[in-house]
Amino acid sequence: MPSEPSFHIGPIPIHGRTILSPMDGFSDQPFRSLARRLGSAISYTEFVNALDVLNGHPHLERRLAFLKTERPVTFQLFDDDPGRLLQAALKLRPFEPDIIDINMGCSVRCVSGRGAGAGLLREPAKIAQIFHSLTHALDLPITGKIRIGWDEDSLNHVDVARIIEDNGGAAIAVHGRTKAQAYRGQANWDAIAEVKAAVSIPVFGNGDVRLVADIGRMREHTGCDAVMIARGAIGNPWIFAGLDRHEVTEPQVRAMVLDHLQAMQAFYGAELGLVLFRKHAARYISPYGLDTAQREQLLTSETAEDFTRILDQLALQPAVA
Ligand SMILES: Cc1cc2nc3c(=O)[nH]c(=O)nc-3n(C[C@H](O)[C@H](O)[C@H](O)COP(=O)(O)O)c2cc1C
Repeated sequence: MPSEPSFHIGPIPIHGRTILSPMDGFSDQPFRSLARRLGSAISYTEFVNALDVLNGHPHLERRLAFLKTERPVTFQLFDDDPGRLLQAALKLRPFEPDIIDINMGCSVRCVSGRGAGAGLLREPAKIAQIFHSLTHALDLPITGKIRIGWDEDSLNHVDVARIIEDNGGAAIAVHGRTKAQAYRGQANWDAIAEVKAAVSIPVFGNGDVRLVADIGRMREHTGCDAVMIARGAIGNPWIFAGLDRHEVTEPQVRAMVLDHLQAMQAFYGAELGLVLFRKHAARYISPYGLDTAQREQLLTSETAEDFTRILDQLALQPAVA
């Protein structure tokens, strides 16, 4: 680890300028740990519903479990109710996250439609209230992850970023799309640059970073302090080590697949770990020209032994275009 931090979030030194973006169903402890080992600078948990925290939902233990080696760790919360967010953050404080992040970007209807996630972008006064109350009640940095607005006609990224900063927020991640875009179209990097120019807390740029070269392009274009990578890291966590997929050797891929599978089984148990690993496995093998039957055989294997045996037999050659 370099001795000089790249930047700070509040008092917390951050080493590195690429970050695995929070992803429901993906950024669990096994995936975060390996991304962190490869160079991701912060571990963000999958988002967690404040209501679930207050109700003590049984899945929370797994969603919020982290290894010491992952620090700094950010717990990400979502809700539309400032009071519940505060109560949930206070309840999670004893689990000693380094940072608490408020999700203001989730576009799925069951979240944004009830005013949580990207739904909060339509209520800037609530955002002010959330950041004011959490930053006053908690002794750790509170950050936010936003989209650039609800839709093209209501872009408010600069206003929202200023509100977050003015109310004590310690960093802002900006996914350069509107809620209406969901995951379609191009991310608006100009908007990320506008946020960076408007605030003095760290800004993370997010959206459409698939290749190592995109990291530099994003930083150059926006001036952001760090780049967050979501989909581009699935099947290629080496992006955090500065490698594109075509630069990763076949033995490295095989070793990573087995390592990741083993970590999933250690974390979730043998059966569930294998089932949940399949979506990662599909992405690890996607660059290869495997036929459907080969893919299916691998991805439906029911034990780690079968999976390993089938993987060993597969020739992993890049698909010819
Ligand atoms: C499967 C999936 C799950 C996601 N879950 C979350 C989440 O829990 N919290 C969050 O802030 N963003 C979530 N996102 C959004 C990503 O963090 C990121 O902002 C978005 O995918 C754009 O980045 P990308 O172009 O690098 O994929 C999710 C995205 C995907 C594809």
